[in-house]
Amino acid sequence: MTDLADIDMEFVQLGGTGIRTSELQFGTWRFGKETEEGNVEIGEKRAHKLLDAYAEAGGRYIDTADVYGGGESERWIGDWLADRDRERYTIASKIFWQIRDGDPNSRGTNRKNIRHRIDALLDRLGTDYVDVLYIHRWDDQTDAREMMKTLNGLVEDGKVHYLGASTLRPDAWKVARANQIARNEGWEPFSVLQPRYNLVDREIEGDYLEMARHEDLAVCPWSPLGQGFLTGKYTREEGLTGESRAAESGRFADAYLTEENFDVHDELDAVAEEVDASPAQTALAWLMHRDGVTAPIVGARTTEQLEENLAAATIDLSEEQVDRLTEAKGGPYAGL
Ligand SMILES: NC(=O)c1ccc[n+]([C@@H]2O[C@H](COP(=O)([O-])OP(=O)(O)OC[C@H]3O[C@@H](n4cnc5c(N)ncnc54)[C@H](OP(=O)(O)O)[C@@H]3O)[C@@H](O)[C@H]2O)c1
Repeated sequence: MTDLADIDMEFVQLGGTGIRTSELQFGTWRFGKETEEGNVEIGEKRAHKLLDAYAEAGGRYIDTADVYGGGESERWIGDWLADRDRERYTIASKIFWQIRDGDPNSRGTNRKNIRHRIDALLDRLGTDYVDVLYIHRWDDQTDAREMMKTLNGLVEDGKVHYLGASTLRPDAWKVARANQIARNEGWEPFSVLQPRYNLVDREIEGDYLEMARHEDLAVCPWSPLGQGFLTGKYTREEGLTGESRAAESGRFADAYLTEENFDVHDELDAVAEEVDASPAQTALAWLMHRDGVTAPIVGARTTEQLEENLAAATIDLSEEQVDRLTEAKGGPYAGL
């Protein structure tokens, strides 16, 4: 296992913004997250150990959202940051999902919801500003002009430095149009994108990545390991062969344990062996070598997993290996 301090992560430019930040970001979705059986995936003590490990490897970009763990994720990050130099870290959070039953205005990117939630979020994080505020999903019920004007106000108030859009579907035209409105009005546009992207989930290839390149947007992929599918602990024959909380979700097997995905995994195993790395490290290294990708958001449930994943920063792939991995998933998106 690589020593954490030896990883010494590099800084990369965050798209067209003026800041440089870690080549691997750390995701905290599972801090305080309850499983369907009522277990907590990552408790406070382990959350702090994971943050320690990430920082020791040189990591400086922490990704959260106001709904992760019902606010616990932000609270635990805030407690951890209180003993550190906050200025050294890039902190990103997100707003969107409904927070009050029966109140439609507590969801989305309407002015009332955004203005109410930003202060609560900063309070939990114990900071005056977040470096990046994402809209967690696109809200088709709020006009883009209302959303961009409200978000611009947060930047002008100094509560947010940069704006991001996190998307499930490749809503390329919506982001481009919102940015056009913002520029026409002299408002802050989106600078960072957070889409799902990994060796087996390739829906952003094509228009979305092309739009990101055209707009000079940072691209920070979530679920870079397909929620653990790309780590080698699932097989065609037996399904899960190790321990996993992620796989407790009923939808995981249907989405990931398919013949087509196992074919991709076969190629991943072959390349991993050639470069003497694990499948997880190789899958992350592929993303880091991919044109248009700024920095994947690494997730991990244990410090062992995190140590393994962060060492992806030390792995070099040849162009031929990157191409083989790219082409392992057939279909209309493979040829970028
Ligand atoms: N914007 C959005 O809508 C959105 C959505 C999802 C995620 N995100 C962000 O992206 C981050 C990462 O997403 P993700 O958690 O889905 O990432 P991921 O890397 O695809 O999956 C992480 C999970 O895979 C398993 N795993 C990771 N490394 C492993 C290893 N070396 N060996 C074995 N198993 C390993 C662990 O789950 P098990 O051990 O339980 O199998 C771990 O929790 C999140 O924390 C969050 O910040 C954003």
